[in-house]
Amino acid sequence: MKAYIIDRYGKKNTGRMGEFPEPTMHDDDVLVQIHAASVNLLDAKIRNGEFRLILPYRLPLVLGNDVAGVVVRVGASVKRFKPGDEVYARPQQARIGTFAERIAVPEDALALKPHHLSMEEAASLPLVSLTAWQTLVEAAGLKKGQKVLIHAGSGGVGTPCDSTG
Ligand SMILES: NC(=O)c1ccc[n+]([C@@H]2O[C@H](COP(=O)([O-])OP(=O)(O)OC[C@H]3O[C@@H](n4cnc5c(N)ncnc54)[C@H](OP(=O)(O)O)[C@@H]3O)[C@@H](O)[C@H]2O)c1
Repeated sequence: MKAYIIDRYGKKNTGRMGEFPEPTMHDDDVLVQIHAASVNLLDAKIRNGEFRLILPYRLPLVLGNDVAGVVVRVGASVKRFKPGDEVYARPQQARIGTFAERIAVPEDALALKPHHLSMEEAASLPLVSLTAWQTLVEAAGLKKGQKVLIHAGSGGVGTPCDSTG
């Protein structure tokens, strides 16, 4: 499949378009035909090598941490999705790679795309929304009705923080 590939870490490495092996499917995986992906600061940091000690990816690597697309095929144990479903996700940290034609995502990491969102809108949400959720709900224990002052509210994480509250 076609993908946007980095062969080595570094700020000056701009990557390349090329052919990459099809994703490996596990029984609980859903194969997604990618319609949209977001570019997150995390992609640049991974490319620069800033995360190489905690996220030791094997190179060559396909970047991309958010996806919206259509289910092509499901693994043997998948219950909640079927071919043709419109979905969005943040893929597993160890199996990123949404700057490509297809990606395999575990069922647990996937959700049906809300009908009122375009593919592009849906692909802009998972990673920043999960970050907002982890911060406000899981870490801070935010309860309905509480107010939060969000600095830098117009940014990637700040925008879904507003919706979470
Ligand atoms: N993006 C993610 O998925 C993610 C995940 C985990 C952690 N984080 C962390 O969360 C933080 C925000 O990330 P982000 O993706 O939301 O970044 P972003 O989209 O670039 O947003 C940054 C925000 O900060 C504001 N800002 C920048 N400099 C400022 C200053 N000096 N005073 C006041 N506001 C300032 C910007 O305002 P303007 O729009 O007016 O410039 C913008 O609203 C970063 O520390 C990032 O490492 C991000």
